[in-house]
Amino acid sequence: MSRSMEDPSARGVDDGSAAGGPGPADHAVALRITNLSKTFPGTQALDDVSLSVSPGTIHCLLGGNGSGKSTLIKILAGVYRADPGGRIRVRFHEIDADKTSPEWARGAGLHFVHQDLAIFTTMSVAENLALGRGFPTGPTGNIQWRALRRHARTVLDRFDVHVSPGRLVADLRPADRTMVAIARALQDQADASEGLLVLDEPTVSLPAVEVDILFEALRRYAEAGQTIVLVTHRLEEVTRIADRVTVLRDGRVVTTLDAGEVTKDRLVELIVGRALDHASSTTSATEGEDLALEVSDLWGGPLRGVSFGLRRGEVLGIAGLVGSGRTSLLTTIFGLQRPTSGSISLDGRAVRFHNVDDAMDAGLGFVPEDRSESAFLNMSLRENLSAAQVPKYWSGLRLHWRDEVADARRSITDFSIKAISERQPFATLSGGNQQKAIVARWLRRRPKLLLLDEPTQGVDVAARAEIYRLVRDAVAAGTSVIVVTADLEELARVSDRVVVLANGRITHELEGPNIDPSRVTELVLSATGDPTNPDMEVSQR
Ligand SMILES: Nc1ncnc2c1ncn2[C@@H]1O[C@H](COP(=O)(O)OP(=O)(O)OP(=O)(O)O)[C@@H](O)[C@H]1O
Ligand SMILES: [Mg+2]
Repeated sequence: MSRSMEDPSARGVDDGSAAGGPGPADHAVALRITNLSKTFPGTQALDDVSLSVSPGTIHCLLGGNGSGKSTLIKILAGVYRADPGGRIRVRFHEIDADKTSPEWARGAGLHFVHQDLAIFTTMSVAENLALGRGFPTGPTGNIQWRALRRHARTVLDRFDVHVSPGRLVADLRPADRTMVAIARALQDQADASEGLLVLDEPTVSLPAVEVDILFEALRRYAEAGQTIVLVTHRLEEVTRIADRVTVLRDGRVVTTLDAGEVTKDRLVELIVGRALDHASSTTSATEGEDLALEVSDLWGGPLRGVSFGLRRGEVLGIAGLVGSGRTSLLTTIFGLQRPTSGSISLDGRAVRFHNVDDAMDAGLGFVPEDRSESAFLNMSLRENLSAAQVPKYWSGLRLHWRDEVADARRSITDFSIKAISERQPFATLSGGNQQKAIVARWLRRRPKLLLLDEPTQGVDVAARAEIYRLVRDAVAAGTSVIVVTADLEELARVSDRVVVLANGRITHELEGPNIDPSRVTELVLSATGDPTNPDMEVSQR
C-alpha cells in the first residue's frame, strides 16, 4: 500500500479533486464492512460479514434467496439496525454498524436504487427527478416548471440518459426507467467520480437488449470513478460486468473472487453449496391436437389479431420485446382485460371471463409479472399460500386449519421456501422467497391452465430449476402452461414450443426438442409484426 488510509493527502485524491479519480495504484477502499451481523427474531440474516469494495469497481453481491443481500443493503441505507459489534466504513466516513441512518448514508455519499425503483409512472421524468430533491418554487410557492425541466435536462445529460424531461415515465422503456432511477439517485452528487451506487436487482425483468444498455452506462460510471455494488441472480451478467464478486450463503461470506477467477458453474457451486445437475427438465411435447386452449384473432390493447392453440400438457413460451403484448395476452386470457374482438376457447368451449373468480372457477391460474399485485404483505406466509384456495379450508363455518397448516408446510418444503414457520409475516420473507410462495399458491390448485408472467424473477439459480421441475410435475398431471420470461435462455429450456410476439402479432413459431435460445433471440430482435405480412413463418419444425 503506497499511501496510508489516514494520510490526509490521500483524502484529497479520494474526494474527487483528481481529474481522473483514483487510479488502480490507489489502494483506498470505497466500502469496508467488518464483522457485520443482523439477527431478526428466529433468523440470523447476517453472520459476521466482512468485505471490502475498491473505488471505481463494479462489485457483485451474490447469494441464494434469503442469504442476506437485501438485509446488508438496508443496513447500509440505515433502514435496518445491525447487531452491535460491526463497523462500516464508506471512504472516510466510519461508523458502528448499529448506528447507521438514512442521514448518515446520504452524508457518506451512498446512493441506492431499490428493486421496485420507486419511480412514479404517471409522472414525467422531470417530476420524478424532482421527487428526489424537491421542486424549485418561486416567491409565492408556485412550482417553477421551466427551472424544473432545465434541471432535469442537465441531470439527464450528465448521466447520458437519452429521454426528454417531459416524457411520462409510463412511456419509457424499462432500461430507461432504471436509468432515470439511477440519475435520480446520483443527481445531488457534486461529481460523478465519487460516491457509491448500490443496485438491488435492477435487471430483474429487463430483456437482454435493455440489460446491455444499462450495463454500458454502469461501465461508464465506474470508469469515471463511481463505485457500484450490484445484486443480481442472473449469473451470465456477473461474468460480463463484475470486477469482483462476493458470495453470501446463509448470511455468511463464502468467498470474494476476482472476475477472472469466475465461471458460471463455479458461481452456482459457491451460491448453492453444491453442483447442480444439468439434467434437462424438458419432456417431449404432447403430440396430437388435443387443444386445452384456443385463441383466435384476439384484438384489444396492444393485441392485433393473435391466434394460437395450446395442447393439453404443453408448455408454450411467449418471446417478445417489452411492449409486444406479452403481458396483455395473459391478462386478456385471464379475464383481467376485455378483448375488443376475437375468441378464447377452453377445452373446445368458448369462454368469456368477466372477472378473476370466473377464470379461477374455470381452472385458470395466473402468476402476474408485478408481485405487488398478488402478495398480501400484511398477512402470513400460510395465508398467502392458500389465497387461491380459500373455500377448500372451510366447510360451513368451520375452518379446517390443520389441513391448511399441513398444506402450507408441504409447500414450504416442496418449494424450499426459506421461512421460520408458516406463520411468518409475508413482508419479512426475502424477495425471491415471496416469489416462490406465489408460484406455489397456484401450482397447488393443479390448474387446467397456468399463466406464468416472469415466474422466476428474483429467484435464485437452484430454486429456478426447482420451480420448473414442479411446473413439469403439474404438466405431467395434465396442466397446460403459457410462460412469459425476458430470459430467453430459460424460455428455450422450459418450453415445448415458443412463439414470438411482435407489435401485438405472432410472427414466428419454433418447436422441437432443441429450441435454440440464440435463434429465439434473433427472431425476437428481427420481428416487426408487420401487418402487411401476416403470414406466420414456421421454422425449425
Ligand atoms: N424484517 C424482517 N423480519 C424478519 N426476518 C427478516 C426480515 N427481513 C429479512 N428477514 C429474513 O432475513 C433473511 C435474509 O433476507 P434478505 O431479504 O436479506 O435475503 P436476500 O439475500 O435479499 O434474498 P433474495 O435474493 O430472495 O432477495 C431471510 O431469511 C428473511 O426472511
Ligand atoms: Mg433481496
